[in-house]
Amino acid sequence: MKTIDELLTEGVAGKRVFVRADLNVPLDGGTITDDGRIRAVLPTVKALADAGAKVVVASHLGRPKGAPDPAFSLAPAAARMGELLGTDVAFATDTVGDSARSTVAGLADGQVAVIENLRFNAGETAKDDAERGAFADRLAELADVYVGDGFGAVHRRHASVFDLPARLPHAAGHLIATEVGVLKKLTEDVKRPYVVALGGSKVSDKLAVIDQLLGKADRLLIGGGMVFTFLKAKGYEVGASLLQEDQIPVVQEYIERAEKSGVELVLPVDVVTSTEFPDLKTKAPGHPHTVAADAIPADQLGLDIGPETRKLYASKLADAATVFWNGPMGVFEHPDYAEGTKAVAQALLDSPAFTVVGGGDSAAAVRLLGFDENAFGHISTGGGASLEYLEGKTLPGLAALED
Ligand code: 3PG
Repeated sequence: MKTIDELLTEGVAGKRVFVRADLNVPLDGGTITDDGRIRAVLPTVKALADAGAKVVVASHLGRPKGAPDPAFSLAPAAARMGELLGTDVAFATDTVGDSARSTVAGLADGQVAVIENLRFNAGETAKDDAERGAFADRLAELADVYVGDGFGAVHRRHASVFDLPARLPHAAGHLIATEVGVLKKLTEDVKRPYVVALGGSKVSDKLAVIDQLLGKADRLLIGGGMVFTFLKAKGYEVGASLLQEDQIPVVQEYIERAEKSGVELVLPVDVVTSTEFPDLKTKAPGHPHTVAADAIPADQLGLDIGPETRKLYASKLADAATVFWNGPMGVFEHPDYAEGTKAVAQALLDSPAFTVVGGGDSAAAVRLLGFDENAFGHISTGGGASLEYLEGKTLPGLAALED
């Protein structure tokens, strides 16, 4: 995989360089609530601009339906990038149309432009190779060189991620190089004990990674909404909690496999519940109760791990040499149900282990809960991407940069 350093040594002055970033930041109306993904791509953008390239930054944001939708515009991300770079960043209001072409044509050496959300064009995410290829052909007209740096999207077989690098000389940016370097430490020659904390709402999103980790990790701590499918699989009643009934057999098989293979699969011993899901907009006080994990009342739904579980998980993280954490432990956006996620974040900070926080949600949680992100070993910008890497899958956006 060619690196951006090799590209810079060859020289990029005067060249139009297309940087596929992941600027998929959380927005509240038009306001960016966490700009971590924009900051993460700045070293690449800055290095190229400083070397005299005309830098064309492109990304998706959210999941618009293949047509322009102002709610998903990248305009706020472009403005924020300009603030962070301390320079004007031009913005094209389309992807491959008149605005993109004239914006790119107007760039002087060392200037940066952001083009509009790639998913405003149906070709970006098309299943059909020819449709994706046609969009990639048009994107290729905007640039001389391609730099892949949108780590969060490398698991997507999308036009700008997979098809475009085949059409241009290409290299990996600083962010992709860093992310891959870190994930290698979790897959090759991992330092033990290797402890993984997995949260998030749906167990179905995590099945493949749990399947892999049962052969690799020493300990697996389960949190978030998927806890309740595990508890039900153990025969407990889970009240009105989130439950994926159809996943119970596979979860039962995982519990048995963990026992046989000596992997410690740790489940909550208590949970914080309420009769209703909290209002995340008003943050109005909920009515939290703590109950034992095997005694959730029928009218209650579990919203966080409980205080005994927080202590238990902290103790299970304390002697780790390597930790990977993906997914919040509870509904951390509401203060009544944020303590579990906070406790895991704090345990990672207290641990001398090499700690990797994977995923948009957990990374945003760490920052929104006020933790210093620099105190963690590495905060990945990719949720799905880092999980699929750990699953051992071939990631289209990395494969495309290989040759
Ligand atoms: C993410 O947020 O994980 C990436 O930006 C990919 O987004 P997607 O899941 O909509 O493809």
